[in-house]
Amino acid sequence: MSQNFDVVVIGGGPGGYIAAIRAAQLGFKVACAESAAYDDPKGEPRLGGTCLNVGCIPSKALLATSEEFENISHHVSDHGITVKDATIDVKKMIARKDDIVTKMTGGIGFLFRKNKITLLKGHASFVGKGTDGYQVKIDGKDAGTVTAKNIIIATGSKARHLPSMPVDNELICDNEGALKFGATPKKLGVIGAGVIGLELGSVWRRLGAEVTVLEALPTFLGLVDEGTAKEAHKLFIKQGLNINLGVKIGDVKTSKKGVSVAYTDSTGAAKTLDCDRLIVSVGRVPNTDRLNLEAIGLKTDERGFIPVDDHTCETAASGVYAVGDVVRGPMLAHKAEDEGVLVAEVIAGQKPHIDYNCIPWVIYTSPEIAWVGKTEQQLKAEGRAYKPGQFPFGANGRALGMGQADGFVKVLADAQTDEILGVHIVGAAASDLIAEAAVAMEFKAAAEDIGRVCHPHPSLSEVMREAALATDKRALNM
Ligand code: FAD
Ligand code: NAI
Repeated sequence: MSQNFDVVVIGGGPGGYIAAIRAAQLGFKVACAESAAYDDPKGEPRLGGTCLNVGCIPSKALLATSEEFENISHHVSDHGITVKDATIDVKKMIARKDDIVTKMTGGIGFLFRKNKITLLKGHASFVGKGTDGYQVKIDGKDAGTVTAKNIIIATGSKARHLPSMPVDNELICDNEGALKFGATPKKLGVIGAGVIGLELGSVWRRLGAEVTVLEALPTFLGLVDEGTAKEAHKLFIKQGLNINLGVKIGDVKTSKKGVSVAYTDSTGAAKTLDCDRLIVSVGRVPNTDRLNLEAIGLKTDERGFIPVDDHTCETAASGVYAVGDVVRGPMLAHKAEDEGVLVAEVIAGQKPHIDYNCIPWVIYTSPEIAWVGKTEQQLKAEGRAYKPGQFPFGANGRALGMGQADGFVKVLADAQTDEILGVHIVGAAASDLIAEAAVAMEFKAAAEDIGRVCHPHPSLSEVMREAALATDKRALNM
């Protein structure tokens, strides 16, 4: 293939495919290159990136199944329902997850055809710059060179691997292997108590595995609001997750029996964790190594990320942009999507804007943890005077009725202006509740604004309203 486009997007994940669709909506002639087949039975490159294939969507499908299983096995009895001997068919659970992934990735193919976006099947890399714009070489099914004046790099990230723990995705797994175990391991080890470790650790614990998490840092979820992380830690330990903080990992050995991890605990005592399988979830690294960025005069930073302008996501090469996991900022699908939309609109001459302070985070454990804006520790470090308001789900009728009364909503408002500076939730449906806080913060709302808005009763959203009122010490139901 040798063709000229207005915009060539490299990578078909949430950053790339959304950028391609928005650019096509704006009238550009667009192509998008994707190389990874993931588990496609025909070995065809699949759209959707990490998120749809081996990230957000499959992990949430497994979280949903395992939550159903845990509720049926342990919690529906509180409602007076008796279910005897519930069993889990892990293969069926995995097949259901795979069906969801296939449906979602196929849906993007449909959207590409609808928006007349050319899919380039193969690995893209830079060749140089000519009169028609940047030249991009495609290696794979659609081999050839394409050109465009505007390029959007959306090549995403991959799991960080450690030399002492070679990932084979059988015994030692990253996210890809951990999403397709054929059976529930009796004993599961997890390296890293971050987002993936907690979500996937929860999945397999709920299905019956004895899960031990080994975390190098001495604090639990150090980036999360301290009080919120403490509450979550307490609840996870109660559920039976063995979380060991402040450990130092030593030798890791595999044998027919499984994996053996030597480590020293926070007191310096030598310990060994023997498990059937090990998940290594110690962060992710950007996919920039095989792009031949030098051909267009670009360099990555020392961690492999592509430096971009804070407001436009343009790189040092004019007309070349980068979005999503491959650039600074949180590695989140919705952040990648928003940057994809932003870049397409920048190319069209519009003036879009992203407020990175208003990007919500969610950890899909049970209960969920969600937040937006500043934590208490950040506000203290900045010396900004604030008023905290907290309200427990335990005082909310809907949460009690649902049997999900753990946790709270915490609102942090400016002490003088009452502007909402941060909202932190640990509790049921936190992923949905946090959207109200994100909207409020985008509109620079005051805590009083949420307090004055009529919320449906009975609903979990009333906890958000009460927490907003609590910043002024006037929660009504406490
Ligand atoms: P990616 O999704 O990684 O997509 C990049 C694509 O580019 C890939 O398909 C890759 O094959 C392709 N590519 C790379 N190089 C080339 C090349 N040279 N030529 C052609 N194609 C190329 N985020 C959330 O917001 N919510 C969640 O619940 C969530 N859950 C997650 C669970 C797990 C287990 C993992 C691993 C991640 C999760 N994430 C979640 C993070 C989320 O998946 C990423 O932030 C998001 O996918 C980033 O989007 P992206 O488009 O930047 O990159
Ligand atoms: P993470 O950065 O969330 O957590 C990694 C953890 O591993 C950290 O706590 C770190 O201290 C620890 N660690 C690092 N090296 C270690 C070592 N040698 N020994 C023991 N512990 C070690 O990374 P994770 O969980 O791999 O996820 C990657 C990213 O993917 C997340 O940061 C997030 O951006 C994204 N993601 C988002 C999800 C969501 O939005 N719900 C779900 C899953 C992933």
